[in-house]
Amino acid sequence: MIVVGLGYVGLPLAVRAVEAGYLVVGVDTDELRVKRLGACDSYIEGVDDTRLMAAVDSGRFHATTDYDRIEGFDVCVITVPTPLREGVPDLSFVECAGRSVAPHLTPGATVVLESTTYPGTTETLLRPLLEAGSGLKAGEDFHLGYSPERIDPGNPEWHLENTPKVISGIDPASLRSVEGFYGDIVERTVPVSSCRTAELTKLLENTYRHVNIAMVNEMAMVSRQLGADIWEAIDAAGTKPFGFMPFRPGPGVGGHCLPVDPSYLSWQVKRLLRQDLRFIGLANEINDHMPAHVVQRVTRGLNERGKSVKGSRVLQLGLAYKKNTGDIRESPALVLARSLLSLGARLTVVEPHTDAYLVPPDITRVELTEAEVRAADVIVVATDHDAFDYALIEDAGAYVLDTRNRCRGERVEIL
Ligand SMILES: NC(=O)c1ccc[n+]([C@@H]2O[C@H](COP(=O)([O-])OP(=O)(O)OC[C@H]3O[C@@H](n4cnc5c(N)ncnc54)[C@H](O)[C@@H]3O)[C@@H](O)[C@H]2O)c1
Repeated sequence: MIVVGLGYVGLPLAVRAVEAGYLVVGVDTDELRVKRLGACDSYIEGVDDTRLMAAVDSGRFHATTDYDRIEGFDVCVITVPTPLREGVPDLSFVECAGRSVAPHLTPGATVVLESTTYPGTTETLLRPLLEAGSGLKAGEDFHLGYSPERIDPGNPEWHLENTPKVISGIDPASLRSVEGFYGDIVERTVPVSSCRTAELTKLLENTYRHVNIAMVNEMAMVSRQLGADIWEAIDAAGTKPFGFMPFRPGPGVGGHCLPVDPSYLSWQVKRLLRQDLRFIGLANEINDHMPAHVVQRVTRGLNERGKSVKGSRVLQLGLAYKKNTGDIRESPALVLARSLLSLGARLTVVEPHTDAYLVPPDITRVELTEAEVRAADVIVVATDHDAFDYALIEDAGAYVLDTRNRCRGERVEIL
């Protein structure tokens, strides 16, 4: 089988397929990534070097930049990026992958798209590219399907194998073939009736989180002024055994999914139906505003201590968008750091999870030491990594603004 795009989604899938007994060729256009895989040096947190080494040592996993190596495949899964460019879906990676795979398609093969995208992409964008490049007909000569990925980086409990996988095909035979493959990979598959429904399922899941996080963020911004504690209220409401699911406030949303995926849906709805998806617009507005709200809280807190942001030493904990991961893509913590820098703060950041080469040059990284904590006018907890010594911060911090509700103490303010 073939995996096209060996990133957060593709590499765990490729390794899992090797473990399930498949002979896997992974294709990626990034030469450095391919080289690292050949050296059993994983760049994805969900796949450690030992697992990668076992896959490579089995002789059934080969990573390459060369599409000629995919000749004669049975199953090909496409897991390439689907970013936004100035608010507009950029499907150029899917198009490029489709064009590269097409000449190698043979009768009886199955192609599955896993990249997150708007309903209709598999049938109206990928299908014609595959047909034109292969001279074959989807449904007649080869199978085609869509299956969204639900991978949750850093989650120790739920991973590819034990998370139910939504699957679809353009026709019953395609669905059977897609089911046959994923039945070997995951514990449970969830077939749906069309690729469009499967594409929508992923966007529904992420929009649901995006909107609910925006709702609690909006409540967090007003609850202090009401003399109420939003964090405690969420925990209390979470004891209700039905009808409530807790979401927690923070400095904004980041990563590859929440800031991007809902906009794929609203863009498509606007384009085809001329309608605004107002929940998505509102959630974008509120979540995008959160870093500015945190800056406002820092400014006020310093002001109360007779200080200005300009010239103050700010120690920011975390640059990643998510706890216990190093992923800084679209991270609100990065927006926060840059806003503080633009106001003249003397900012340093502690981020133990991100590889040094990924940290932007305008960010000065330091270790979390007692000297750093004592020297800071304010410590801003932006990401609540378990690796941080919160007792040190509580004991030695002059003023702590905690956007994640991890710290306690007289000098700690919670978002
Ligand atoms: N990261 C997540 O947690 C997550 C979860 C669910 C779904 N998704 C979706 O999965 C898709 C992939 O995301 P990701 O996080 O794995 O991205 P990623 O950037 O980590 O990996 C994508 C890989 O594809 C490669 N690539 C790009 N164009 C290519 C081409 N034409 N041929 C071969 N390789 C190519 C890139 O070099 C990169 O290594 C996106 O649509 C994303 O929205 C991501």
